[in-house]
Amino acid sequence: MSSIKKIDQLTERDGLPKHLCELLDKYPRDTWTNDTLNGNWVGFWLGRHSVFREICSSIKHAIHELLDRKISHQNFMQQYIQLMNMMLHNLESHHMVEDNYIFPKFYEKNEKFRYGLELLENDHHLIHQSIDALVAEGNNLISSFNEKKHIDYKLIVGDYSKVNESYNKLLIAHLCDEEDLLIPLVSEYGEEYFGLGH
Ligand SMILES: [Fe+2]
Ligand SMILES: [Fe+2]
Repeated sequence: MSSIKKIDQLTERDGLPKHLCELLDKYPRDTWTNDTLNGNWVGFWLGRHSVFREICSSIKHAIHELLDRKISHQNFMQQYIQLMNMMLHNLESHHMVEDNYIFPKFYEKNEKFRYGLELLENDHHLIHQSIDALVAEGNNLISSFNEKKHIDYKLIVGDYSKVNESYNKLLIAHLCDEEDLLIPLVSEYGEEYFGLGH
């Protein structure tokens, strides 16, 4: 794997690097056809991305409800534990399938965008590092609630919310860039060309 330039790291970049946008310029998001979006593989894959976006927004919603005192700590913890477990379990398998099965198929067929695939694989490592920080902060939050410490809950929930925001930002940016790289490739060549969608 070639090394990823600092400027192209998920934490630094704003969208795909320009030299990887040749096909995206030809097939911008608003031109993606239903035929492509509902393809056997693309439809399933985008469905997984929707699940991650929904979990992110549900966790964010629960944090706001807690900060606004619309739900109890217990209610928040129940929702949080369930949503985070769902996120961790699904994201790990999603990334494993992409790294070991999906990306190699694109890598083999398209030399021009290999750096983009390496970039996406590198994103997965950065996202997992960010999850580790998120889980540690979440555990702090839960133990503070469980121990009923006399502390300012608004402050610790606010701290958690900040870590959650930076994780969300990375994950959503990655999902978006991944779609911007792979969907134009499928638009140009079709799923079957890459051995997908059977
Ligand atoms: Fe990914
Ligand atoms: Fe993905």
